[in-house]
Amino acid sequence: MSKLIVAGRQKLSGAVEVQGAKNSALPILAAALLAKGENVLYHCPVLSDVEASCRVLRYLGCKVSRSSHTLIVSGSGAQRSDIPDELMRKTRSSIVFLGALLASSGSARLTLPGGCEIGRRPVDMHIKGLRALGALIREKHGCLECSAPYGLTGSKITLSFPSVGATENIMIAASTANGTTTIINAAREPEITDLAEYLNRCGAKIDGAGEGVIVIEGVRSLHACSHTIIPDRIAAATLMSCAAVTGSDITLKNVIQAHLGAVIPVFEEAGCRISCHECELRIIAPRRLKSFKTIRTMPYPGFPTDAQAPLLAAACTADGTSVFVENIFENRYRHVSELARMGANIKTEGRVCVVEGVPTLYGARVDATDLRGAAAMVAAGLCAESVTTVRGVQYLERGYENLEQTLCALGADVRKI
Ligand code: EPZ
Repeated sequence: MSKLIVAGRQKLSGAVEVQGAKNSALPILAAALLAKGENVLYHCPVLSDVEASCRVLRYLGCKVSRSSHTLIVSGSGAQRSDIPDELMRKTRSSIVFLGALLASSGSARLTLPGGCEIGRRPVDMHIKGLRALGALIREKHGCLECSAPYGLTGSKITLSFPSVGATENIMIAASTANGTTTIINAAREPEITDLAEYLNRCGAKIDGAGEGVIVIEGVRSLHACSHTIIPDRIAAATLMSCAAVTGSDITLKNVIQAHLGAVIPVFEEAGCRISCHECELRIIAPRRLKSFKTIRTMPYPGFPTDAQAPLLAAACTADGTSVFVENIFENRYRHVSELARMGANIKTEGRVCVVEGVPTLYGARVDATDLRGAAAMVAAGLCAESVTTVRGVQYLERGYENLEQTLCALGADVRKI
């Protein structure tokens, strides 16, 4: 199991480019199943979760090749409609293939992704939405047996919660259904808008993505297209946390300021100066952050749950008390106990986490618990006294492309062994 050795008391400087968005690439790769011909996807990050989706596509019979950050996916080759358990377990986001499989082959067989480090991760809204489109879905021994013998038919679907994955699955399946589908209380994340833009480039007719109501007018078929994946707003927020926690002045390239609407004010409230110019964001952090008053994670455009862990790490040495309320996932504070091993003073009670800022953290051996928790460990290690060893780097590689190289390019001393 590889680990990261993070030297403490770091100061970062310079400029780095932010990777393409993992959570945009994954649903677009699933949707490519429907797009006949050669899809060219630019700015596709090199991540183990993306490679896992490419393995699923190849298993289903699609041709997938990569040249640097460009992925070429030929969607017309799908000959299978089942995803084996070992591929499903590689990344739970494979559930987003369900809608694409039903739409492209009229059947789908995959195991339930099951819970993960941050929560139970049910898929009831995915199933309910696809059934509303006419899919027959049976859950048996943790496996989903799905079919659409009469094709899929547009329908009006109201989500009880603006689930990102459920919105994606329904949008993909509805794009070639008979008739019109309306998704009410749809997720509004930028990755949803990016998926809709990709699908519309493929000939779909989707209106309202990014709003709470999305209308999809089914078309007969989709053709391949070229598309550039949007920047990863969570990777940007993570690098901002690394700068904030080390009192640094760095510039991020390939940033869409609007996607960080709930994140930028939080850093400014903590004493950072942030300036944006076109696709660049500069953050100048104070020697010591002021505390984050209260951060409540919410569906977009609220504060993103995926940025909670890295910012919580930054709060550990801030001056004062910071409060976090994790409203999206039920088990997303597992990084807290590891931060406490570095001297952080944190108390959690259910969804609430109270961080009393301490003057300094101390390097320690810590275990990454999930993708964003791993990033929190790295951020904490950058400001701690002495060296921090972060075990479980495989979590980091799921969502961050060469984070250690990016940090070294900013002057940090981070080594993978
Ligand atoms: C996506 O997960 C992201 N993953 C997550 O990023 C992100 O944290 C999450 O959206 C929220 O923004 C990808 O895009 C691959 P949800 P998803 O469906 O689609 C409950 C990361 O670190 N729910 O919006 O699974 C669910 O349990 C990952 O990059 C149901 O109850 O999120 C959760 O509590 C982590 N039933 C809440 O809704 C359902 O059918 C939000 O889930 C679906 C979801």
